[in-house]
Amino acid sequence: DDNSDEQVSGGPALTAMASEGKRPAQYSGCIDEGSRMMNQIKTLLERNRGWAESVQKEDPGFFARLSGQQNPDYLWIGCSDSRVPANQIVDLPPGEVFVHRNVANLLHHNDMNALSVVQFAVDVLKVKHIMIVGHYGCGGIKAAMTGGECGIVDYWLHSVRELYSRHRKTLETLPLAEQVDRMCELNVKAQVDNLCRTKIIQRAWQRGQPLAVHGWVYGLNDGRVTDLECTVEGLDQVPQLYRVDRLVRADQAD
Ligand code: CO
Repeated sequence: DDNSDEQVSGGPALTAMASEGKRPAQYSGCIDEGSRMMNQIKTLLERNRGWAESVQKEDPGFFARLSGQQNPDYLWIGCSDSRVPANQIVDLPPGEVFVHRNVANLLHHNDMNALSVVQFAVDVLKVKHIMIVGHYGCGGIKAAMTGGECGIVDYWLHSVRELYSRHRKTLETLPLAEQVDRMCELNVKAQVDNLCRTKIIQRAWQRGQPLAVHGWVYGLNDGRVTDLECTVEGLDQVPQLYRVDRLVRADQAD
Protein backbone atom coordinates (compact mmCIF):
# COMPACT_ATOMS: atom_id res chain seq x y z
CA ASP A 1 0.00 0.00 0.00
CA ASP A 2 0.95 3.69 0.04
CA ASN A 3 2.71 3.45 3.39
CA SER A 4 4.82 0.45 2.50
CA ASP A 5 8.02 2.45 2.13
CA GLU A 6 7.40 4.16 5.47
CA GLN A 7 6.76 0.87 7.16
CA VAL A 8 10.05 -0.69 6.17
CA SER A 9 12.19 2.32 7.10
CA GLY A 10 12.95 2.06 10.78
CA GLY A 11 14.07 5.01 12.90
CA PRO A 12 16.87 4.76 15.48
CA ALA A 13 14.40 3.68 18.15
CA LEU A 14 13.17 0.80 16.04
CA THR A 15 16.68 -0.26 15.19
CA ALA A 16 17.58 -0.21 18.86
CA MET A 17 14.47 -2.17 19.82
CA ALA A 18 14.94 -4.69 17.05
CA SER A 19 18.60 -5.27 17.92
CA GLU A 20 17.62 -5.85 21.54
CA GLY A 21 15.17 -8.44 20.29
CA LYS A 22 12.19 -6.95 22.11
CA ARG A 23 9.77 -7.47 19.23
CA PRO A 24 9.52 -10.19 16.60
CA ALA A 25 10.65 -8.88 13.22
CA GLN A 26 7.29 -9.55 11.54
CA TYR A 27 5.75 -6.69 13.58
CA SER A 28 8.32 -4.18 12.33
CA GLY A 29 5.62 -2.09 10.59
CA CYS A 30 3.66 -1.72 13.82
CA ILE A 31 6.79 -0.94 15.78
CA ASP A 32 7.73 1.74 13.31
CA GLU A 33 4.33 3.43 13.59
CA GLY A 34 4.30 2.83 17.33
CA SER A 35 7.73 4.34 17.80
CA ARG A 36 6.82 7.30 15.62
CA MET A 37 3.84 7.95 17.87
CA MET A 38 5.95 7.50 21.01
CA ASN A 39 8.43 9.97 19.60
CA GLN A 40 5.67 12.53 19.07
CA ILE A 41 4.71 12.30 22.73
CA LYS A 42 8.33 12.34 23.83
CA THR A 43 8.83 15.50 21.78
CA LEU A 44 5.81 17.14 23.41
CA LEU A 45 7.08 16.35 26.88
CA GLU A 46 10.51 17.70 25.97
CA ARG A 47 8.92 20.87 24.63
CA ASN A 48 6.97 21.15 27.88
CA ARG A 49 10.19 20.99 29.93
CA GLY A 50 11.74 23.65 27.72
CA TRP A 51 8.70 25.89 28.03
CA ALA A 52 8.45 25.51 31.82
CA GLU A 53 12.15 26.31 32.16
CA SER A 54 11.97 29.41 29.98
CA VAL A 55 8.89 30.73 31.80
CA GLN A 56 10.54 30.06 35.16
CA LYS A 57 13.67 31.85 33.99
CA GLU A 58 11.77 34.89 32.77
CA ASP A 59 9.49 35.15 35.81
CA PRO A 60 10.73 33.03 38.75
CA GLY A 61 7.52 33.53 40.75
CA PHE A 62 5.18 32.63 37.89
CA PHE A 63 4.20 29.05 38.74
CA ALA A 64 4.19 29.61 42.49
CA ARG A 65 1.81 32.52 41.97
CA LEU A 66 -0.50 30.72 39.54
CA SER A 67 -0.69 27.51 41.53
CA GLY A 68 -2.03 29.58 44.43
CA GLN A 69 -5.14 30.71 42.55
CA GLN A 70 -6.56 31.77 39.20
CA ASN A 71 -8.22 35.11 38.82
CA PRO A 72 -9.28 35.50 35.20
CA ASP A 73 -11.46 38.39 34.04
CA TYR A 74 -12.46 36.59 30.86
CA LEU A 75 -14.39 33.52 29.81
CA TRP A 76 -13.70 32.52 26.21
CA ILE A 77 -16.25 30.28 24.50
CA GLY A 78 -14.74 29.34 21.17
CA CYS A 79 -14.49 26.71 18.47
CA SER A 80 -12.38 23.58 19.04
CA ASP A 81 -10.51 24.35 15.81
CA SER A 82 -6.77 24.00 16.48
CA ARG A 83 -6.07 27.30 14.72
CA VAL A 84 -8.07 29.36 17.21
CA PRO A 85 -6.17 29.20 20.53
CA ALA A 86 -7.78 31.50 23.08
CA ASN A 87 -4.81 32.86 25.04
CA GLN A 88 -2.53 33.38 22.08
CA ILE A 89 -5.07 35.33 20.06
CA VAL A 90 -5.56 37.94 22.79
CA ASP A 91 -1.90 37.64 23.82
CA LEU A 92 -2.59 36.73 27.45
CA PRO A 93 -0.56 34.35 29.64
CA PRO A 94 -1.94 31.34 31.55
CA GLY A 95 -4.25 32.38 34.38
CA GLU A 96 -5.97 35.19 32.48
CA VAL A 97 -8.61 33.40 30.38
CA PHE A 98 -11.09 30.72 31.45
CA VAL A 99 -11.81 28.66 28.35
CA HIS A 100 -14.55 26.47 26.95
CA ARG A 101 -14.35 25.22 23.38
CA ASN A 102 -16.55 22.97 21.27
CA VAL A 103 -17.27 22.42 17.59
CA ALA A 104 -18.72 25.66 16.17
CA ASN A 105 -18.69 27.50 19.54
CA LEU A 106 -22.24 26.63 20.54
CA LEU A 107 -24.05 27.33 23.79
CA HIS A 108 -26.91 24.87 24.08
CA HIS A 109 -29.22 25.17 27.06
CA ASN A 110 -29.02 21.43 27.73
CA ASP A 111 -25.22 21.30 27.60
CA MET A 112 -24.19 20.57 31.20
CA ASN A 113 -20.55 20.89 30.26
CA ALA A 114 -20.83 24.42 28.87
CA LEU A 115 -23.32 25.55 31.53
CA SER A 116 -21.06 24.27 34.31
CA VAL A 117 -18.17 26.24 32.86
CA VAL A 118 -20.32 29.37 32.56
CA GLN A 119 -21.66 29.05 36.09
CA PHE A 120 -18.25 28.51 37.63
CA ALA A 121 -16.83 31.43 35.65
CA VAL A 122 -19.67 33.79 36.59
CA ASP A 123 -20.54 32.75 40.16
CA VAL A 124 -17.14 31.73 41.49
CA LEU A 125 -14.45 33.36 39.37
CA LYS A 126 -16.63 36.41 38.73
CA VAL A 127 -15.32 37.03 35.25
CA LYS A 128 -16.23 40.44 33.86
CA HIS A 129 -16.43 39.51 30.20
CA ILE A 130 -17.60 36.47 28.28
CA MET A 131 -16.70 36.33 24.63
CA ILE A 132 -18.34 33.93 22.21
CA VAL A 133 -15.67 33.59 19.54
CA GLY A 134 -16.44 32.15 16.14
CA HIS A 135 -14.02 32.07 13.25
CA TYR A 136 -14.41 32.60 9.53
CA GLY A 137 -14.32 29.45 7.45
CA CYS A 138 -15.51 27.31 10.36
CA GLY A 139 -15.73 23.68 9.26
CA GLY A 140 -18.55 22.97 11.70
CA ILE A 141 -20.68 25.77 10.26
CA LYS A 142 -19.92 24.67 6.73
CA ALA A 143 -20.80 21.05 7.52
CA ALA A 144 -24.13 22.15 8.99
CA MET A 145 -24.91 24.15 5.84
CA THR A 146 -23.78 21.73 3.18
CA GLY A 147 -24.94 18.50 4.75
CA GLY A 148 -23.18 15.19 4.42
CA GLU A 149 -22.68 12.36 6.84
CA CYS A 150 -20.34 13.32 9.66
CA GLY A 151 -21.70 11.20 12.50
CA ILE A 152 -22.59 12.39 15.97
CA VAL A 153 -21.49 15.93 15.16
CA ASP A 154 -24.50 16.20 12.81
CA TYR A 155 -26.75 16.17 15.88
CA TRP A 156 -24.50 18.64 17.65
CA LEU A 157 -24.76 21.04 14.69
CA HIS A 158 -28.52 20.73 14.27
CA SER A 159 -29.23 24.22 15.65
CA VAL A 160 -26.80 25.70 13.13
CA ARG A 161 -28.73 24.03 10.34
CA GLU A 162 -31.94 25.55 11.68
CA LEU A 163 -30.29 28.95 11.86
CA TYR A 164 -29.18 28.55 8.25
CA SER A 165 -32.67 27.62 7.14
CA ARG A 166 -33.95 30.85 8.71
CA HIS A 167 -31.41 32.96 6.78
CA ARG A 168 -31.10 30.90 3.63
CA LYS A 169 -33.22 33.21 1.45
CA THR A 170 -30.97 36.21 2.04
CA LEU A 171 -27.72 34.22 1.90
CA GLU A 172 -28.17 31.90 -1.07
CA THR A 173 -27.23 34.50 -3.69
CA LEU A 174 -23.70 34.72 -2.20
CA PRO A 175 -20.80 32.38 -3.05
CA LEU A 176 -20.56 29.47 -0.59
CA ALA A 177 -17.44 30.72 1.23
CA GLU A 178 -19.16 34.04 1.87
CA GLN A 179 -22.33 32.31 3.03
CA VAL A 180 -20.25 30.34 5.50
CA ASP A 181 -18.62 33.52 6.81
CA ARG A 182 -21.97 35.30 7.24
CA MET A 183 -23.27 32.21 9.01
CA CYS A 184 -20.24 32.25 11.32
CA GLU A 185 -21.25 35.79 12.33
CA LEU A 186 -24.96 34.96 12.66
CA ASN A 187 -24.10 31.89 14.72
CA VAL A 188 -22.00 33.93 17.15
CA LYS A 189 -24.88 36.39 17.60
CA ALA A 190 -27.29 33.51 18.18
CA GLN A 191 -25.00 32.06 20.85
CA VAL A 192 -24.71 35.46 22.56
CA ASP A 193 -28.51 35.48 22.73
CA ASN A 194 -28.59 31.91 24.01
CA LEU A 195 -26.10 32.71 26.73
CA CYS A 196 -27.91 35.86 27.81
CA ARG A 197 -31.11 33.84 28.15
CA THR A 198 -29.61 31.62 30.85
CA LYS A 199 -30.47 32.23 34.48
CA ILE A 200 -26.78 32.11 35.32
CA ILE A 201 -26.12 35.33 33.42
CA GLN A 202 -29.39 37.03 34.32
CA ARG A 203 -29.07 36.33 38.06
CA ALA A 204 -25.59 37.87 37.95
CA TRP A 205 -27.07 41.02 36.42
CA GLN A 206 -29.87 40.98 39.01
CA ARG A 207 -27.23 40.91 41.74
CA GLY A 208 -25.61 43.94 40.16
CA GLN A 209 -22.52 42.00 39.13
CA PRO A 210 -20.68 43.71 36.26
CA LEU A 211 -20.74 41.27 33.35
CA ALA A 212 -20.68 41.80 29.59
CA VAL A 213 -21.26 39.18 26.89
CA HIS A 214 -19.52 39.86 23.57
CA GLY A 215 -19.68 38.35 20.10
CA TRP A 216 -16.40 38.07 18.19
CA VAL A 217 -15.22 36.46 14.98
CA TYR A 218 -11.61 35.54 14.36
CA GLY A 219 -10.00 35.70 10.92
CA LEU A 220 -7.83 32.66 10.22
CA ASN A 221 -6.12 34.47 7.36
CA ASP A 222 -5.07 37.63 9.19
CA GLY A 223 -5.18 36.76 12.89
CA ARG A 224 -7.58 39.61 13.59
CA VAL A 225 -10.62 39.56 15.81
CA THR A 226 -13.72 41.43 14.66
CA ASP A 227 -16.09 42.64 17.35
CA LEU A 228 -19.61 42.01 16.00
CA GLU A 229 -20.88 44.78 18.28
CA CYS A 230 -23.65 42.71 19.77
CA THR A 231 -22.49 43.15 23.36
CA VAL A 232 -25.11 42.58 26.04
CA GLU A 233 -24.40 43.92 29.52
CA GLY A 234 -27.70 44.03 31.33
CA LEU A 235 -31.12 42.47 31.82
CA ASP A 236 -32.80 45.38 30.04
CA GLN A 237 -31.20 44.22 26.75
CA VAL A 238 -32.84 40.79 26.98
CA PRO A 239 -36.27 40.42 25.31
CA GLN A 240 -39.06 40.23 27.90
CA LEU A 241 -40.06 36.68 27.00
CA TYR A 242 -36.63 35.37 27.96
CA ARG A 243 -36.18 37.31 31.17
CA VAL A 244 -36.08 35.55 34.54
CA ASP A 245 -38.12 38.37 36.03
CA ARG A 246 -40.86 38.22 33.37
CA LEU A 247 -43.42 36.59 35.67
CA VAL A 248 -42.99 39.26 38.28
CA ARG A 249 -43.51 41.88 35.64
CA ALA A 250 -46.20 40.08 33.63
CA ASP A 251 -48.60 42.98 34.10
CA GLN A 252 -46.20 45.37 32.35
CA ALA A 253 -44.98 42.92 29.71
CA ASP A 254 -44.44 44.35 26.26
CO1 CO B 1 -14.68 26.05 13.74
